[in-house]
Amino acid sequence: MAITTDFLVIGSGVAGLTFALEAAEHGEVIIVTKRARDESNTKYAQGGIAAVFAPDDSPEAHIADTLEAGAGLCHEVVVEICAREGPERVRELIARGAQFDHENGQVRLGREGGHSARRIVHAADATGLEIERALLEQARQNPNIRFAEHHTAIDLIPLSRFGGPDICAGAYVLDETDAALNGPRQRDSERPAPRHRPASKPHVVETYLARATVLATGGAGKVYLYTTNPDVATGDGVAMAYRAGAEIANMEFYQFHPTCLFHPEAKSFLVSEALRGEGAILRLPDGKAFMASHDPRKDLAPRDIVARAIDFEMKRTGSDYVLLDITHRPASFVREHFPTIHAQCLRYGIDITAQPIPVVPAAHYMCGGITTDLYGRTTIPGLWAIGECTCTGLHGANRLASNSLLEGLVFGQRAAARLGTQIAELRQSPFPDVPEWQVGNAVASDEEVVVAHNWDELRRTMWNYVGIVRSDARLRRAARRISLLQEEIREYYWKHLVTRDLLELRNIATVAELIVGCASARHESRGLHTTIDYPETSDRLGTDTVVKRGVLPYLRGR
Ligand code: FAD
Ligand code: SIN
Repeated sequence: MAITTDFLVIGSGVAGLTFALEAAEHGEVIIVTKRARDESNTKYAQGGIAAVFAPDDSPEAHIADTLEAGAGLCHEVVVEICAREGPERVRELIARGAQFDHENGQVRLGREGGHSARRIVHAADATGLEIERALLEQARQNPNIRFAEHHTAIDLIPLSRFGGPDICAGAYVLDETDAALNGPRQRDSERPAPRHRPASKPHVVETYLARATVLATGGAGKVYLYTTNPDVATGDGVAMAYRAGAEIANMEFYQFHPTCLFHPEAKSFLVSEALRGEGAILRLPDGKAFMASHDPRKDLAPRDIVARAIDFEMKRTGSDYVLLDITHRPASFVREHFPTIHAQCLRYGIDITAQPIPVVPAAHYMCGGITTDLYGRTTIPGLWAIGECTCTGLHGANRLASNSLLEGLVFGQRAAARLGTQIAELRQSPFPDVPEWQVGNAVASDEEVVVAHNWDELRRTMWNYVGIVRSDARLRRAARRISLLQEEIREYYWKHLVTRDLLELRNIATVAELIVGCASARHESRGLHTTIDYPETSDRLGTDTVVKRGVLPYLRGR
């Protein structure tokens, strides 16, 4: 029996939750989410949300900074929408209970690279945690919102697959809770605490049908060996949308954050750009500051420039890391502004008030994604997308720091408001009959080692050949390896019952294919895409790279 709802939201980060709270004014919402409801990139966001609040700042300045970072590929109308609607969305977030830092009754604003003014609304250095807390608390109290935690969307349900029209009707979802084994469905709040089941237990795949299906699945940092992202960031939304036939764009622009903690025991810990906003200096291991020789804005140059500079210096000096030094600021200031980073580094024996922090660049943010219009509509009717999984046109070839939470808030609200006006009409049609998930002859996976090995090979390939600096030869090498891995994954996928691990591997391989495909189509260096074979930016190529299932990536004429 299919589970039906007005709005099926896949993902519970800032975009999914913002959408859900607004959409719940108009109908029933189910939020399907892979792990615990707070697990997301959002939860780990540090620096904050870019929004104009300072008297000496203006939307025009925010627009200009975003366009400058985006290296000619931002869609100006989208940049304008986000800059102008951002402050209102932040005020709403505050009204929903988010507690941001204040000073003299005004929000306290931080500074980050590429911003010409103090513009970053934050909750110390744990802004995302506070946003998730506030939005989840609101969602918990809303009778129109239900959560399905530990549920992984496997694939969308385009009716065209069953001979119907080109409409997305919902998604097939793997239920990983113990409740899935125990018969009748219960409301989420009545369920026993979910535990992960070993892959060998029987699996349950549910059919969710919705008036509108909304992808809010976040990024894909796990496609690279080193990333600031948590494990859930496997590009599922992009891969599902691509398989369903939606248009995807600009996947070559993967942003590397310049400063991820370098320590053998630290997994994916970001050291916020806000430190450089408060004066931290990047130094070589011998103590020499180096950013002045790369950009006049020095340590506050946009992220692509800083990440490339670090990559260059590490290769030049043969060092495994560079240092980020904030020891010249008073210890009390550092502890007050960066309590999370201070505490986390202390766990690894680094007192950031007295010692510089070893850092390296790591994959951080997917600037490309599912193309949408100004309201989050994708190219497939019935399918909407919001947040990091999209390519709205805001970021162009390089995202400006702290513009991502902003985009999630703005587009989450816009999509819900637009769907709110359409829901009565959408309810006129009955839910379609679609076949249940077919298991065929698949059996339980018996060789998890194959999956683990493919994960590792894929992520290393991407790191080694499709990183900060690329070349045609490296991209060709990566394409060959990814294609072989995909063949193996496909074979494994059809023979075995799906597990989350296998689904994520399949999706990350698709994302890798799309990144390499888009990168290979762009014969220039621009923003986050740097290639030694085409070192210059070409005026002719200032357009988006688009790709669709069955159509190779190409640069679209504007
Ligand atoms: P997410 O917050 O990633 O949420 C995605 C959700 O989808 C998760 O709940 C996930 O479990 C779920 N999901 C994924 N696949 C499936 C599936 N198949 N089935 C079911 N559920 C699924 N940006 C800023 O603007 N400012 C910052 O200061 C900042 N700091 C950052 C620091 C770190 C360490 C990181 C990693 C990112 C940071 N970013 C920052 C980027 C920003 O946090 C993200 O881009 C943003 O939070 C993405 O929000 P989202 O709602 O689109 O996705
Ligand atoms: C950071 O705090 O440095 C991350 C900001 C961002 O990714 O926008």
